[in-house]
Amino acid sequence: MSRFRLPPIPSSEITPEHIWESRRAWMKRAGQSALAVGAGSLLAGRVSWGQPADGVLAGTPNPRYRVDDALTAEKDVSGYNNFYEFGTGKSDPMEYAGRMQTRPWALRIDGEVEKPVTLDIDDLQKLAALEERVYRLRCVEAWSMVIPWSGYSLSALLGRVKPTSRAKYVQFISAVQPDRMPGLSARIINWPYREGLRMDEAMHPLTMLVFGVYGKRLPNQNGAPVRVAIPWKYGFKSGKSIVGIRLLEKQPLTSWSEIAPNEYGFYANVNPTVPHPRWSQATERRIGSGFFAPRVATLMYNSYGDQVAGLYAGMDLRAHY
Ligand code: MTE
Repeated sequence: MSRFRLPPIPSSEITPEHIWESRRAWMKRAGQSALAVGAGSLLAGRVSWGQPADGVLAGTPNPRYRVDDALTAEKDVSGYNNFYEFGTGKSDPMEYAGRMQTRPWALRIDGEVEKPVTLDIDDLQKLAALEERVYRLRCVEAWSMVIPWSGYSLSALLGRVKPTSRAKYVQFISAVQPDRMPGLSARIINWPYREGLRMDEAMHPLTMLVFGVYGKRLPNQNGAPVRVAIPWKYGFKSGKSIVGIRLLEKQPLTSWSEIAPNEYGFYANVNPTVPHPRWSQATERRIGSGFFAPRVATLMYNSYGDQVAGLYAGMDLRAHY
């Protein structure tokens, strides 16, 4: 048995083995710092541990965004996750993310905007009416889920800050909480986790700021208190627990394309005809469908082509993967 747990996005070729940490060392340190922080918070009486994941957060179901397939069970949506800040195993986020502090929380929006602003999470959440939208999520690892998110289109927020004419790209920056994120020490990613979109992708109505799932506040492992969801792109484009949105003139470096530019492009549109260099993207495993269930065909743009294909007219999707 290997002493090391492989990252779910296979990175054995991109990550020197010596920087991976054994799970035992992680758990030991996580336990120690939990004790330390817990004792400190009792003494100081002011550390917020975030809201319970079961807080109701209803959004009005939007019939425009529906999927015929059955929803993925809530236990899988919030039990089988990628959130490398908490480890590379699928159950690590569920096990460790409860320690992330999610209140108070501020999101800073700046860069090429006329009105840079820092918004408290509760004000951010009230900025537009919350809708429930069922989206397909296709992970680059060739599995998928069907998830009912609650939130609103990112364009509602970006419109408020008044992008300048130089704003061509949007960068998303995730939180770094060193004492509460045991995965940070395995330096697979140059933290903070960063993602980005072209301005027209960010303004597309499908691109969503998400605050809840399954009618409840986002559990920490799904990216509480606010994350992005971009259903026609591989899941890694959707940054979790974001603290910054920066509008930029130049295309930003993104975490996965920084690590392995030949494997993870800036666009990362779901595309069954462009294989990952190390595996096919033609089919996917629907999480929860059972080990022996047949794989299903992956659809171009994850089935959202009628809404988004126009964004890429004239682009060579093999070059811009
Ligand atoms: N955001 C941060 N900050 N850190 C991560 O490791 N993983 C990405 C994305 N957002 C990730 C992240 C990947 S690879 C996927 S597939 C989705 O989150 C998974 O979202 P889910 O666990 O809610 O299904």
